[in-house]
Amino acid sequence: MLVFETKKELQKKLMALWSEDNLGLVPTMGALHEGHASLIRKALDENTHVIVSIFVNPTQFNNTEDLEKYPQTLSADVALIKSISDDILIFTPTINEVYGKLVTHNVYDFQGLDKVMEGRFRDNHFNGVGTIVELLLTLIKPTRAYFGEKDFQQLRIIQKLTKLRNIPVKIIGCPIVREPHGLAMSSRNERLNMELRQKAGFIYETLIAAKDKFGTENALQIKKWAIKRFKRHKDLDLEYIEIVDIETLVPAEQKTKNKKYRAFIAVYAGGVRLIDNIALN
Ligand code: PAF
Repeated sequence: MLVFETKKELQKKLMALWSEDNLGLVPTMGALHEGHASLIRKALDENTHVIVSIFVNPTQFNNTEDLEKYPQTLSADVALIKSISDDILIFTPTINEVYGKLVTHNVYDFQGLDKVMEGRFRDNHFNGVGTIVELLLTLIKPTRAYFGEKDFQQLRIIQKLTKLRNIPVKIIGCPIVREPHGLAMSSRNERLNMELRQKAGFIYETLIAAKDKFGTENALQIKKWAIKRFKRHKDLDLEYIEIVDIETLVPAEQKTKNKKYRAFIAVYAGGVRLIDNIALN
């Protein structure tokens, strides 16, 4: 297991691997869980070499408290990666190594993909994500890069980013992994107590019910129904529910034949922000 902290050391190592054109990257912010493990396993299945980056990227946090409270568990993360395979490379740079003195994000035109849902509630979040992902992709030059569908909007934006910037990489989306009560796995779940963690299964129950309703009801009816349902729940505070076209992420008014839709939810549970989504058709 090799751990690199500087870009220079890492690039020296990667130089020998690039010619093989078979390098998988799993970018993470650490606090690794089964969801990340599934991305790492998929990357191992599909690539000869795999690198996991662990970096809590300050420019994608619009809320300082969220950044400060973000769990940092480096030795457990390294142990988890090692338990999957001893052959994985790990990149854990400092903020200074990544950004130098100017800790700031680029500004992208994601053609509207960043104007809805997470983008509406988290100022510049996707500019921050774009900045770090562009930096990692151009530094590491992976053949494939793996992202979870829990952050489906992020996944679509990263696909757009690689087109906008002509970065030759395959962006691969991987299915959401869930806790036993249905809550989508997330590093933020660590901040919930056991009771809330179980109660938060309500989010996925709502998404499944929304999927059922999608056959017979329109998007507006389903949203109204879900908003009412969350109002009655005393521990979960709904921030948004949206039903959108998965290509444009534009909220759906009418269903159009041959288009695919997904429902998205963001919720606060005991001060912790949770997101989830489901394919509707
Ligand atoms: O999804 C995440 O963990 C982060 O947004 C990412 C893609 C690693 C960029 O910091």
